[in-house]
Parts: sequence; structure tokens; C-alpha cells
Amino acid sequence: MSDVAAHPKHFLSDKVSHFTESVIREMTRQAMLHGAINLAQGFPDFSAPGEIKKAAQEAIAADVNQYAITWGAKTLRNAIARQMNAWQGVPVDPETQVTVCCGSTEAMISTLLAVCNAGDEVVIFEPYYENYGPDSILSGAKPRFVKLRPPSTADGEWTFDEQELRAAFHKHTKAIIVNTPNNPTGKVFTRAELEIIRDLCVEFDVLAITDEIYEHILYDGTQHISIASLEGMQDRTITINGMSKTYSVTGWRVGWTIAPPRIADAIRKVHDFLTVGAPAPLQEAGASALSLPETYYRNLAEGYRKRRDRLIPALTEAGFKCFLPRGAYYVMTDISAFGFPDDLAFTKHLVSEIGVAAVPGSSFYRDPRDGARQVRFAFCKRDETLDEAAKRLMKLRPSDPAGRKMQGG
Ligand SMILES: Cc1ncc(COP(=O)(O)O)c(C=O)c1O
Repeated sequence: MSDVAAHPKHFLSDKVSHFTESVIREMTRQAMLHGAINLAQGFPDFSAPGEIKKAAQEAIAADVNQYAITWGAKTLRNAIARQMNAWQGVPVDPETQVTVCCGSTEAMISTLLAVCNAGDEVVIFEPYYENYGPDSILSGAKPRFVKLRPPSTADGEWTFDEQELRAAFHKHTKAIIVNTPNNPTGKVFTRAELEIIRDLCVEFDVLAITDEIYEHILYDGTQHISIASLEGMQDRTITINGMSKTYSVTGWRVGWTIAPPRIADAIRKVHDFLTVGAPAPLQEAGASALSLPETYYRNLAEGYRKRRDRLIPALTEAGFKCFLPRGAYYVMTDISAFGFPDDLAFTKHLVSEIGVAAVPGSSFYRDPRDGARQVRFAFCKRDETLDEAAKRLMKLRPSDPAGRKMQGG
């Protein structure tokens, strides 16, 4: 059979030529190929909480095995609405505002497909979680990037320039995507920063689409603030969240959106024809998960704080400059000390020769040159995994003769 490329009609949508497959997911495949430790993709290598696994097993045994209501099981929608009110003080009507999706990944693309028209622009802070670029393109919108600048000191914060952000807003701007706590930087947006974003959204009549899946993973006394809780934002915010990170169940594929009713209606239509619904028994387990006591969330954050503080000294000793994350479970690093031509050459060497997979920084930027000196590590792993990775990474040390020999490889 002739190759698609050789055919006079190439058959493919022009849209797919504007993005590549996920680099993060490709790094997981590379890790498996080389038997490397996977500090690339953000999934835990430890068990999910026993209570929620039991709840899922019980739901299957009780024959919750057919399609759930398209926009989500009532028990889960009620729990989502209750917790949004309890944690963020935002009243939510589970009947008209909540849509349960197949992960927050589907929640984001369903939202963008529901609100964007050709010619719309979507403002995205970069470095950004790589899905947002393709999501915008698939929904017909043009991504417009605004830089988050790395801190100049080891414990400083990533910041944006207010004027640069303002310049990105104009009459074709449909939405801004805000991810806080942030992947890959670990930035937790402050109230003052969110108010700047709020003021621009109101002035330019723009939606805020906020990805809050790391809301409970916070360090150093930082606080998570939902944009929807700010005055003036309830009618123009779509809040996206999910079970993956908070309950260590990335494979369950349960996420959701909370939106004003008219927008929720549109999201539900898109979601219906994309997937019909999210896994029914796992939604029931989701309702149990959202009823876990406060101590669960405290332990979750403290567990990740310990893992952060275990990996970062090891990375620093190996020669990385680390940007201290205040939330989420990633650390962005600067790799200048190793003298490699770029992040791709470095991560290739790392996975095949050192035995550790990480994500090249360029995959978080529109212009790969902006991330050429950066690499992201995930620390949502067991102590043994982090310690073994640390041991392997020591082979990289610029002062180590073996390491020096390998530089530039
Ligand atoms: C910022 C962000 N949003 C969404 C996702 C995907 O979430 P889900 O598993 O709910 O689709 C990830 C996964 O790493 C992420 O980092």
C-alpha cells in the first residue's frame, strides 16, 4: 500500500501538522526502552489510597458497570460542588455547572472546543504544560504565549511582566489558561497576580480557564486560590480539576469542569460526543475520595515536600541549578553546567547512559531555544526510586572525571 505522504491527497488534517506527539509521554517510552528510572512523566510509583481502591472495587461488584450520566454521576458531581464551596468558598450547582470528563485532559479540550471559534486567541503562560498548545490548535484557536521568567536566586519565584501580559490581550482574545500550582515551574500564583489576570479578563471580556489539578500539593505555606473565587470572575471562569494527582490515580481518567451554566451546557455537548462519559465505577470511587478527611490532604502535601527536599539536594550536588517549586511535583533545572549543546542531547544522554529519564525543557516552550538549557524532573516517586536516581545522577558531576569524559555526548 502506498504511503500517505506519497498520495496526491495527503488525507491528513492540516491541524495535526502544527504539533508533535507528547514529548513527556515519549520520554516514558524511552525510559522503558533503556530500563531507566522514570522521573519524566508525572505519575506516582506508589500505591493509591486503600479506601478509594476499595470504593472502586465495591462499585464494580455492585454492578456500576454501565454508562454513567453523560455529565457525571450525581454522587461525584455533588461531592465536587460541595468541596469547591468548602475549599474555595465558591458556590456551585452540581446540576447545571459540573461536567465530569475523562481526566482533566479531556476537560481542557472539551472546554476549548466549546468556547473557541476560528480566529480566537488563547493566552498561555510559558513554560507551559504541553497539552495546551495542541488543545488550542485543535479547537481552532491561536495560542499566544506570555513568558514566566525564572527566579534569579535559588529560592526566588517565577514572575510575569504585567505589561507583557496586557499586550497579549486584545479584541480576538477569547480566554487565558492559568495553571496554578504550575507544571513545570512549581509556581503558585499569588492573589495579587490573579487579580491582575482578573482585571484584564474583565476589561477585555475574556474567559479564565484554570487548571488546578495540583491544588493540594503546596509547600512552604503557599496557598491555592481559585480564580473563580475572585470577585467578578464567577461568570467568566471555567475551573478544571481531577482525581489523577490528588488521589494518585492517573490511570483512572476522571476529571471535571466547573463552569457557568450556559458554558457548562456547551461543554457537556462536546464531552457527550467525544466520550459519552467517564468510567462509571471510578466516578463512584471519586465521590468517596472527595470525602477523605482533611488529614489526607495534609499528609499528601507533606509527603511531596519531603520528596522535593530529598531530590533537590541530590540534583544540586550532581551539578543542576534547581528552581525551587512551591507547589505541584516537578522541579525545573538549569543544565548549563554540563556543557551539552542543548536539552535534547542532554536528556538523550541521561536516559541512555545515566539511566534516568527527564523531560527536555524545550517541550514547554513555543521556541525550543527558550528551553534549551532547562530540564524537568518529577519527584512523585518512592524514596528508593529517588535515591537510586540520585546515585545514578552523581555520574554526571562536572567535577567527576567520568562525567567530564561524557560531556557533550
Ligand atoms: C497541569 C496538568 N494538567 C493536566 C494534566 C493531566 O491530568 P489528567 O490525568 O487529569 O488528564 C497534567 C498531567 O501531568 C498536568 O500536569
